[in-house]
Parts: sequence; structure tokens; C-alpha cells
Amino acid sequence: MNFSNLSEIATYIVSEGKGILAADESNPTCKKRFDTISVESTEENRRDYRELLFSSKGMSENIGGVILFDETIRQKTDAGQSLVDLILESGALPGIKVDKGLKPFEGSEVETLTQGLDDLDERCAEYAKLGAKFTKWRAVINIGDGIPTQECIDANMEALAKYAKIAQKNGMVPIVEPEVLINGKHTIEDCYDATSRSIKSLFDYLKSYDVDVTGTILKPNMVTAGSDSDQKSSVEEVGEMTIKCLNESVPDELPGVAFLSGGQTEIESTEHLDKMNKIGGFAWKLSFSYGRALQQSALNAWLGKPENKNAGQQAFAHRAKMNKLAALGIWSADLEN
Ligand code: 13P
Repeated sequence: MNFSNLSEIATYIVSEGKGILAADESNPTCKKRFDTISVESTEENRRDYRELLFSSKGMSENIGGVILFDETIRQKTDAGQSLVDLILESGALPGIKVDKGLKPFEGSEVETLTQGLDDLDERCAEYAKLGAKFTKWRAVINIGDGIPTQECIDANMEALAKYAKIAQKNGMVPIVEPEVLINGKHTIEDCYDATSRSIKSLFDYLKSYDVDVTGTILKPNMVTAGSDSDQKSSVEEVGEMTIKCLNESVPDELPGVAFLSGGQTEIESTEHLDKMNKIGGFAWKLSFSYGRALQQSALNAWLGKPENKNAGQQAFAHRAKMNKLAALGIWSADLEN
């Protein structure tokens, strides 16, 4: 695959219903996932699990990019092939998470600022040499009493813009991820407000830092009620409000929006994405960049046992296919069986 500019890379990743597999869980997060299936989080087990996913037949035609963690981009399969080459062979592009997690925002107990700008230029240069074609940086916005504050939103979105500029300077597409967390009792209207303020601020900063949005992918949350909310929103409501929110601030020249799943179930993530693509009325590709919603069934089928490798791969292939159909707006519930 040869690309002559960042826009071609970004466009390829979300072409023809393809989406992104987020497999960039840090080692502590991977341990959390493995704990649920009682598998020890060793370097070898993490490698085996990622190799299972990347060599599944579900990769080709469904997955345009895979986000990796620093450890994974350096790993090799059992047979000695680099995981980067395994991903390329499937037709997907390797990418890398480059942020260094969260620290409290100005001493706050609830608000955070994402770190990692200090040595970002050097790290990006190395990742580009290791074969990464794109990068990811996640900002986290909490909803609660009196938050998110505009100061916290702006500080996070400015950091995203600085990161995006550095990624592009190193020849990689930045995925900009302003995640408004689903945790809490808030209403769908509260989520709309926080998401809308975050995305508006983000595109203002991307513009002022002269980031090329034609070579950028946005990874937002969907607009939903909080996970502990009494409110139950319909699939239509989530679809309509998310599209409205994005249309307010996302420029038409952006090639793709690829949602995070953020704690929604596998089926909810697929159904919401499908609904939005059925509704239509936006200029960008609307696709997925799921972690949990692409991996949950696969993890449960695998259980860390070599004899379950096939079952894990099939479970992943099914979700990858379902989400591709959703990105094309042609999914239906009966295809799940
Ligand atoms: P989830 O889809 O599990 O939210 O993960 C996506 C991701 O990459 C979060 O940064």
C-alpha cells in the first residue's frame, strides 16, 4: 500500500465500511480485561491474544487500522513475523497510542489532563520508523456536579491540537479522541452539552494550530445518557442527537469519524452506528474505532486457551463484519444469529 499524503491514509482507514480495531490497552488495562477471564497478563499472553485477533479472517475487508500499544508494535508472532507485518498483510494499517495517560487537572479530584507532549516528537519519529501510519491521543472529559469546566475542556483540546500537529509533522495521521465518559447519572442532554463544547473547542484549536483536518480522524463518544442514569434513550434519539452534535462543529473536509464504544455493549455499539448511517445527512464517513465492543465476545470465547483460538477468531470476525455493515448502514438484528 502506497500513500502519497495523510489524507489518503485517513481516507483508506475508513473506506468501504472499514473501521478501526482499538487494541491499544495499556498493560494495566489489559490486566483488567484478562482478569475477567482469569488469564494472567504476561507479555506472552498479551502477544498471543493480539496475534489471535490480527490473524483472524475478520480483519480483511472490515478493519482499516489497528491501534497498538508501545509493547505490541515491537512484538513478533510465534513464527517470528512482526505484528506490524501481520496487520499489513491483512490489509489494515498499524497505528500507535502516543498519549501517556491522565493526571489531575490543576489539582482537581475529578477532572484530568492527558499527558505525553514532552518527548512526543522523538517518540513519533521512532514509531514512524517502526511502521506506524497513524497515532491516537485520548482526552477524557467527566460529567458531574459543575463539570466539565470550560478550562479543563480547553486545556485538553489544546493538547490534542499540539499532539495532532506533531503527529502530522512525522508523517502520521492523528486520531483525535475527546472522550466524554459514559460514567454517571447524567442525562442525554448533559452529554450533548459536554460533547458539543468539547468538539467545538477541539476544532477551534485544530484550526489555530494549523492542523490539516483532511489528514485527521475524529474519535468521539456517542451522545447517550450516563451509565447510571434513570433515563432510557431510544436508538433513534442517540442517533439523531449524535449526528446533530457532530454537524455543529465537524468540518466537511474531515475524512472520517470513528466512534469509541465507551462501555456500551457490543450490540448497542453496532445498532447505534447503523442507525446513524441509515439516518445520514453528514459529509464524513461514520465508522467505528472500538475496543471492548470488538473484543468482548472474542475474549470470552478464547479464555486464554490455545484450543479456543479458532472460536476467539470467529467471534472477533463476526463483530468486525457486523460493524462494517453498520458503518454502511445495512446491518439488521437478525444478522446477529
Ligand atoms: P472502547 O471502544 O472500549 O471505549 O475503547 C476505545 C478506545 O480506544 C478508548 O481510547
